[in-house]
Amino acid sequence: MKTLRVGLGERSYDIVCERGILSRVGEVVAPLGRAGRKAFVLTDSNVAPLWLGKAVASLKAAGLDVSSGALPAGEPTKRFDSLMTVYSMFAQSGLTRSDVVITLGGGVIGDLGGFAAATYLRGLDFVQVPTTLLAQVDSAVGGKVAVDLPWGKNLAGAFWQPKAVVVDPEVLDTLSDEYFSDGMAEVIKYGCIRDKGLFERLDEAGSREKLRAHIDDVVMRCCDIKRVVVERDERDTGERMLLNFGHTYGHALEKFYDYKKISHGAAVAVGMRTICEIAERKGLTAAGCAEKITSLCNKFGLSCKDDAPYREVIGAIKGDKKNLNGALNVVLLHDIGDGYIYPTDGGFWL
Ligand code: GLY
Repeated sequence: MKTLRVGLGERSYDIVCERGILSRVGEVVAPLGRAGRKAFVLTDSNVAPLWLGKAVASLKAAGLDVSSGALPAGEPTKRFDSLMTVYSMFAQSGLTRSDVVITLGGGVIGDLGGFAAATYLRGLDFVQVPTTLLAQVDSAVGGKVAVDLPWGKNLAGAFWQPKAVVVDPEVLDTLSDEYFSDGMAEVIKYGCIRDKGLFERLDEAGSREKLRAHIDDVVMRCCDIKRVVVERDERDTGERMLLNFGHTYGHALEKFYDYKKISHGAAVAVGMRTICEIAERKGLTAAGCAEKITSLCNKFGLSCKDDAPYREVIGAIKGDKKNLNGALNVVLLHDIGDGYIYPTDGGFWL
């Protein structure tokens, strides 16, 4: 089993990774709290038939008093309205402040369940068990939990660190190619901002099939990069913004399409290419980065292309949460593996 310790003082926790660990998740969760405590497993309608049985059996075998609930799979479940359903599940299962919530699913379940755990009874322990590549390398680590409001995504949220993150690479085998590609955009992002060697290993592997044998190492390398960033800037006031490489334009593109036509990963891939092309023209990024990123993304099913009208998309950047007092920090690369934060005004994108 590979373990990483996220060092955040009294909020420190382990990220553990092993093939098949979902069948032993109880062995990770039980020692985190009092014997016999209640555990509520929140999942979705896609994940429940695949993995819920294994998780519940293991938690029961470890002595926890387990109940569970599944929400409809998909982005709309992350709406604020779903919180009432989740709180009502918690209430019906009699959760108290010394119990634990387990989020078994992708980013929607992790973010929503984490926010419900952060707020129910003024805060319950929770453990993230991410089942998508995107959640394993990004959303399950670092303690950002949130729900969407009618005015935008992730607008009601908290920093609420999990007590553990349990990563089972085996669950990735059942992901569709589309979901796998979605997560690969974030994996490639880590290579771009912090690890040229990772970028090159991905390029050498060149396909989902060839990466399969190394996916544990790749996921844990991404988690480790995020760990270092989060330890230095838990509250996202500085360095954590590096994790947003490709996301400024990517978010604007997702918003332009009302979060319907393009996946998060596909939008981030376009965003990474776009910002590198602009920065290369301005001499702020080494020539050739946009091309290298596009070539690697293409190998993992991400086109880096979109037909949306550029001027209309950049109009949405004004609404980005990171846009403070008219100044917008963007994340650029000196070169592959070396990201930096660059303060801009609105003119950067033109
Ligand atoms: N997903 C970006 C962050 O956790 O800060």
